Amino acid sequence: MAKEKEEKNKKAVIEVKNLEKIYDSGEVKVHALRGITLSVYDGELVAIMGTSGSGKSTLMNILGCLDKLTKGEYILDGRNVSNMSRDELADIRNDLIGFVFQGFNLLAKTPAIENVELPLLYSRARTYKKQEREEMAKKALDSVGLSGRYYHQPNQLSGGQQQRVASKGFD
Ligand SMILES: Nc1ncnc2c1ncn2[C@@H]1O[C@H](COP(=O)(O)OP(=O)(O)OP(=O)(O)O)[C@@H](O)[C@H]1O
Ligand SMILES: [Mg+2]
Repeated sequence: MAKEKEEKNKKAVIEVKNLEKIYDSGEVKVHALRGITLSVYDGELVAIMGTSGSGKSTLMNILGCLDKLTKGEYILDGRNVSNMSRDELADIRNDLIGFVFQGFNLLAKTPAIENVELPLLYSRARTYKKQEREEMAKKALDSVGLSGRYYHQPNQLSGGQQQRVASKGFD
């Protein structure tokens, strides 16, 4: 009860109502999510568990604004993102979301520092000079204990180090 009360006073950062996802690749339709309702509050840590194929990645892709929902509603930080276009979702991702991928999604044969700098190149908010990008990327890598790894490529880093590089791509 105490927790419920506390949560009522907090802001729901993620609010999902009756969410459905149907993958439709022409011949076969897969109904991957059927009516998910979920609120995640500011400061909360949440784990999503389920058997293989139960829809965890599907849900994460939608919550991370990487994919669009089929039905239902998704309010992220007070904004209704349910029917946004892919371009609008890309802007939301840039502004609000940090995503650590299972596969890291780092560019191969590209040093850690450039992997971290990359999103700054696409920033629509402002233009960053090369030197500025480098400084920001170095600081970000320093903050996760990778000061000695600026110029290592992903295949020269451990799994956890790759994950730390991925988590520092500016978003
Ligand atoms: N792009 C797609 N097109 C069609 N069906 C898909 C697609 N992606 C996932 N699916 C199907 O949707 C369902 C949910 O898949 P999802 O990847 O979300 O599962 P998961 O819970 O992440 O599983 P795992 O634990 O194995 O990673 C599965 O039946 C899967 O085959
Ligand atoms: Mg998965």
